[in-house]
Amino acid sequence: MTYNFDEPVDRQGTSCVKYDSRKDVFGTDSVIPMWVADMDFKSPPFVIEALRQRLDHEILGYTIRREEYFSSLRKWVERRHSWEINEDWISFSPGIVPALNICTLAYTDRGDGIIIQPPVYFPFYNAVTDHGRRLVYNQLIENDGKWEIDFGKLKKKASEGARMLFLCNPHNPVGRSWTKHEMETIAGICADNNILIISDEIHSDLVLPPYRHTPLACLSPDIADITLTCMAPSKTFNLAGLSTSSMIISNPELKKKFDSIIESLHISGGNIFGTEASIAAYTHGDEWLDSMLDYININVEYVVKELQETKLIRPVPPEATYMIWLDCREMGMDTGELNKFFIYKAGVGMSKGTVFGPGGEGFMRMNIACPLDTLKRAIDNIKNALLKL
Ligand SMILES: Cc1ncc(COP(=O)(O)O)c(C=O)c1O
Repeated sequence: MTYNFDEPVDRQGTSCVKYDSRKDVFGTDSVIPMWVADMDFKSPPFVIEALRQRLDHEILGYTIRREEYFSSLRKWVERRHSWEINEDWISFSPGIVPALNICTLAYTDRGDGIIIQPPVYFPFYNAVTDHGRRLVYNQLIENDGKWEIDFGKLKKKASEGARMLFLCNPHNPVGRSWTKHEMETIAGICADNNILIISDEIHSDLVLPPYRHTPLACLSPDIADITLTCMAPSKTFNLAGLSTSSMIISNPELKKKFDSIIESLHISGGNIFGTEASIAAYTHGDEWLDSMLDYININVEYVVKELQETKLIRPVPPEATYMIWLDCREMGMDTGELNKFFIYKAGVGMSKGTVFGPGGEGFMRMNIACPLDTLKRAIDNIKNALLKL
């Protein structure tokens, strides 16, 4: 079956964050929205069909998560990521951000240090500070446009008493898919210092060929023992509004603690539609996902080529995710000026690099999960605005 990712879909007036919050976020509705991480593509037809079938039953009472919820995820990670897991390692979470917060509560105490590697997805910060824990930064380093982990500094920070590390794997916003060697080094440092790793792998299905995702926990049983893995169909199949994700936790003690918080907050039930969508996506999603990734690759190539020509914006080609990290430092503007330039001169609404913390100064993050025509309009707007500088 062929899927049409060129189809424009009018999302305005559907209570969608990306379009309907533009005025609040950018001060104007007149921007092409290329910020929050969802896609302008329709969710896959087999997911919509599964939801329709469930809706046809017309009773939406209390629900349980049936066996296929667990088996479809188990088979998916085996097929897509060569990781064999047991179904009883899977825990439900209503989202990955809630899961990060639950991990903070479950495994750390007030005042404890949690390592993050900025520039990084901004809710990582709140998942630490909102609970009175201490942020420990191991800032990524940039080597000629490639973002890497500063292992020397990580070793030092880890030895200073941190309890946990949030790993963004693949990394949003810099688009890195960490290599086995990089992950083994991180895990070795954490193991030596009794640090738990929360590996946020929400973007794992969005690794762009020829790169391949390796789940951290599949590297060895010892690594699995100190790792909790976050997985979800939400980014992959554009289902974020269904609030359904999973944790894979092979260490029974850690799993028990995670589940006890989910139970105590009475959020383990989830919702009927999230369960049905997750099962349909993980059961039937391979072909759709492969076509979608091909489409994203075309968009990546387009943006990289067009923006490189400007000499003022240096796009960082992503190894994963549908985000492109744009180095705008040659434009010589501070964050406020850059933001205003893109909103008011180019009419494009992107995420400011600084929302991702230290290292984000002079950068913007562009979400390219949209029809190529939309992307072309945005890039034309940016190029025309640059000519007038
Ligand atoms: C690294 C990362 N983790 C988590 C999320 C969001 O997770 P959820 O919507 O399940 O809370 C995002 C969304 O962009 C993300 O980039």
